[in-house]
Amino acid sequence: MIKLHDKYFQPFISEEEIEAAIQKISAAIAADYKDDCPIFVTVLNGAFMFASDLMKAYPHPCQISFVKLSSYKGLSSTGIVKSLLEVGEEVNGRSVIILEDIIDTGRTIKELVHIFSNIEVKEFKIASLFYKPEAYDGEYPIDYIGMEIPNKFIVGYGLDYDELGRNLKEVYQLKEKEMINLVLFGKPGAGKGTQAEFLKAHYNLVHISTGDVFRYNIKNGTELGNLAKSYMDQGDLVPDEVTINMLANEVNNNPDANGFIFDGFPRTIAQAEALDDLLATKDMAIHATLALEAEDDILVERLLKRGLESGRTDDQDEGKIRNRFNEYNEKTAPLLDFYKNQSKLHSVNGIGTIEEITKRLQSVVDTL
Ligand code: IMP
Ligand code: MG
Repeated sequence: MIKLHDKYFQPFISEEEIEAAIQKISAAIAADYKDDCPIFVTVLNGAFMFASDLMKAYPHPCQISFVKLSSYKGLSSTGIVKSLLEVGEEVNGRSVIILEDIIDTGRTIKELVHIFSNIEVKEFKIASLFYKPEAYDGEYPIDYIGMEIPNKFIVGYGLDYDELGRNLKEVYQLKEKEMINLVLFGKPGAGKGTQAEFLKAHYNLVHISTGDVFRYNIKNGTELGNLAKSYMDQGDLVPDEVTINMLANEVNNNPDANGFIFDGFPRTIAQAEALDDLLATKDMAIHATLALEAEDDILVERLLKRGLESGRTDDQDEGKIRNRFNEYNEKTAPLLDFYKNQSKLHSVNGIGTIEEITKRLQSVVDTL
């Protein structure tokens, strides 16, 4: 998934498919014009890449020229088609083939048909790499079509979203707002915090760190915070219901989130079920559980180093560190099985540079 301006886009048409579409158009035009020298009138800016690759694929003599019209701003056609670069005299008496990147409503084509109706040309044809039949409401038939696509906004291979995305080699489609809710697992030192920051920024998610939520509620003396504290002061465990209600507040306070990262919760199967129940009441669900895996010995080394740098005492004692790992293994193993049974568990290798681990996580989340 990629981000352009404020929107997210996901892969839609591969380089190979684009190439095949261009080959198809090239072969069809070549069959019709092998004894002629057509002039490809390319509609700027979007069709520049298509024109370039089509010319390279075209087996017979041909020429190129350019026009520039403008009708799109943002995600939908404004309906105003302006001519920014006029057709030159070189098209007079020639077989003209318009090259468009995409035909949507057909307004641009209508304008071009109108422009060319005042020019003496030998023939006038239209070739478009992409065509949205559901959106087209023109009368003019499109002579050569590379690929029909559903009525979706796309970018890449010359096409833009407010001028960005033209350089992408493949075509991406706008991602409809869909939630991504993740649970993040990882032993101390596995890099959970760092990676949560990345996921948060890259996918526009809200990171719910249960420890932070607890501390916030207690510090600010919220009703739930005071309730939790009353149990803790007695040396009792805070009931799951109290924690779940705190998390529910976090979810409710972020209605515009693209999704949530749950971190530090659930820690038991009962909590995992309670979380599923909570999300179900909001028409939401956990989509994936990401478990950052790393061998204990490597993590011990990392933590000892961190302990030296930060002065955190719990990171300076190997025995204490290994106890935390044992506790994690005991408590988390059944949870990993719980999510594995739902086919939601993704183990991610947590050894490597931050960037390498980020890439691994990204490739998992991108396929959700
Ligand atoms: P039409 O005039 O509505 O047919 O739109 C044609 C022009 O709008 C194309 O030349 C593109 O520049 C632009 N356009 C249409 N659909 C898309 C899209 O999905 N992504 C990016 N640009 C588009
Ligand atoms: Mg265009």
